[in-house]
Amino acid sequence: MGALTELTAEKYPGKAPALLFDDVPGYPGGFRTLYGHFTTLKRVALTLNIPLEEAENKVKLVKAYQDKWTNIKPIPYHFVADGPILENVLTGGDIDCFKFPVPRHHQRDKARFIGTAACVITKDPDRDWYNLGTYRSQVYDAATIGCQITEGKHGRIHRDKYFERGETMKVAIVVGQDPLLYLLSASQVPEGVSEYDYAGAILGEPYPVIKGVYTGFPVPANAEIVIEGDITPGDLLDEGPFGEWMGYYCSAPVKRPCVRVKSIMHRNQPILCCAPQHKPVDETVLLKAVAGSAAIWDALRLAGIPDIKGVWQHEGGMGVRFLVISIQQRYPGHARQVLHVASSCQAGAYNGKWVIVVDEDIDPSNMDQVMWALTTRFDPVDDIDIIKKAWSSGRDPLVQTGNFNNRILCDACIPYHRKLKGDFPVVVEVGAEETARLLEKWKGILF
Ligand SMILES: Cc1cc2nc3c(=O)[nH]c(=O)nc-3n(C[C@H](O)[C@H](O)[C@H](O)COP(=O)(O)O)c2cc1C
Repeated sequence: MGALTELTAEKYPGKAPALLFDDVPGYPGGFRTLYGHFTTLKRVALTLNIPLEEAENKVKLVKAYQDKWTNIKPIPYHFVADGPILENVLTGGDIDCFKFPVPRHHQRDKARFIGTAACVITKDPDRDWYNLGTYRSQVYDAATIGCQITEGKHGRIHRDKYFERGETMKVAIVVGQDPLLYLLSASQVPEGVSEYDYAGAILGEPYPVIKGVYTGFPVPANAEIVIEGDITPGDLLDEGPFGEWMGYYCSAPVKRPCVRVKSIMHRNQPILCCAPQHKPVDETVLLKAVAGSAAIWDALRLAGIPDIKGVWQHEGGMGVRFLVISIQQRYPGHARQVLHVASSCQAGAYNGKWVIVVDEDIDPSNMDQVMWALTTRFDPVDDIDIIKKAWSSGRDPLVQTGNFNNRILCDACIPYHRKLKGDFPVVVEVGAEETARLLEKWKGILF
């Protein structure tokens, strides 16, 4: 199933189908898995409640999502009495994570992973903030799973706080759910805000939840499968290796906190949602590119920086590591300011590598145009800044001791003083008026 997803994502970039598998050997019909939620821009738009016309162009879709962020009014979730998630409730000796067709996603994974396209719900011990984050879960046995949360992620900050106090953290892990919750869990919703409240804002109504039977946490009433349990300080098991999102098997097994499962809830004929990830372009890249680009655009707006024209996190950089921003330069230093804010704001800081700023005549999502700017408007001595010891992780094959990495910032804009003087060479291209005239004249013949 993982291999078919990888092969279709590779063969049909931007157009691959979502794959729903049924009749998995060894499992009853109806116990299904779903892969490739976000392999097209249209499915991202549909999930985000954005008109499909906006999905014709990458930057247009990012802009539409960023506009939603600018005007977002979070709507709190609300508890309902019942929901399909309560159709089956397993506790005690009935708990069995292998009841579902849990895949070994990549050929070299040591174990089967039940949580990949998942929403891990944790509660801040100091306030009424339920965070949803996508963090992977290996299965160890029927009632023990993993939960790998990297430093700095919201769920990790929650867990660190419990552990600093010597306390167990309760967790509810949703492994089959509404694609909107998965998309939000896998993107950078601001600190202190529940992804449920953003989901409510996007849907225009409160997200319906029920109380988890073990944790009491709000869990989606319409979810497919929810696993609840405890993570206790010092209760460690070897986790990984797993084929990672940067395209490598990065580490030998590492001892990490595990989850002792206390309940499983699932609807009849449940769908296990999966996103194994692999070398680019994988089935999660458009999710990360659209959500990450919109969040960075919004951070630039909040920092007060004017005239951002487009943002795109490129597919080849896994939607995280090759960020291009186009601007209309308004003042000396504008381009450099954009580079530093975009690379250091919360949405751009984690695991970045390349950040490039270009003028407004360059489409930041068009790699040929970006390369043209880099090869004609960028000087390798004057137009580079380096950030050292930035926020990275063991997923990076070049990670430095202490989980840091170095970043490159490239100013590929026309030097501002030359733009002002008008002495930068004129671009060879058909002018706008002439283009319009020729398109009209040759309509239906050449165009
Ligand atoms: C398919 C997929 C799997 C992911 N797996 C992990 C993971 O195992 N651990 C982790 O820390 N982040 C993982 N991430 C990234 C986080 O989900 C992402 O950084 C998100 O912003 C975390 O939520 P938070 O900001 O609320 O912490 C994954 C993302 C995707 C799309």
